[in-house]
Amino acid sequence: MTREGVHRRGIDVSGLDAETVAEALAGPGYCVFDDWLPTELWQALLAEVRADAASMAYARIGRGADSRQLETIRGDRTCWIDASHGSAAVKYYLARIDQLRQQLNRRLFLGLDDYECHFAHYPPGAHYERHRDRFRNDDARTLSSVYYLNENWSAADGGELRLHLTDPECERVVDVMPAANRFVLFRSADIEHAVLRTRRDRYSIAGWMRRSGV
Ligand code: OGA
Ligand code: MN
Repeated sequence: MTREGVHRRGIDVSGLDAETVAEALAGPGYCVFDDWLPTELWQALLAEVRADAASMAYARIGRGADSRQLETIRGDRTCWIDASHGSAAVKYYLARIDQLRQQLNRRLFLGLDDYECHFAHYPPGAHYERHRDRFRNDDARTLSSVYYLNENWSAADGGELRLHLTDPECERVVDVMPAANRFVLFRSADIEHAVLRTRRDRYSIAGWMRRSGV
């Protein structure tokens, strides 16, 4: 039997569900939550990222002096989210993340103490090649998250998140459609992943739960 990551509805992972989510993160390395926020909240976040899209900058690869903008590797445009200046919807999103972070800390002892995130827009034709989310010189990023904001996404639209799993008992590759109100969590250290070429504007919030104390 091959193992799979878990697929859940809603965000409350207290009790038994926390056990399943923790096992999925420790084994296969990922989990997917559908219907993550109330409808009016993901709609508000979508309106916000659309309004910001014109002023978003091409994402860069690497950090500091090493950083480069290379559209051949990643074609998304991003805008970092500043918690202190966020809208009501952004604050709600961050509060739910914080709740999840604390639930996971209680189960997994990961010592996650921080979360950073940005809005992302992949225009039609954009993709992001296979990569890992950890920087070479900084291992604070522990769990990667992506929250999708795309209404009526279909397979013909492309743009899947492709996860390359490392657990020998799992399917090697899992493709996840970037459907509205879907939240995906996976291990940053070793799960390589890619964004397949999208045929539609693709909106999301990409974020990282970090531990700074190591
Ligand atoms: C990233 C990333 C995946 C996605 O921003 O690092 O891998 O599905 N995003 O948007
Ligand atoms: Mn990534």
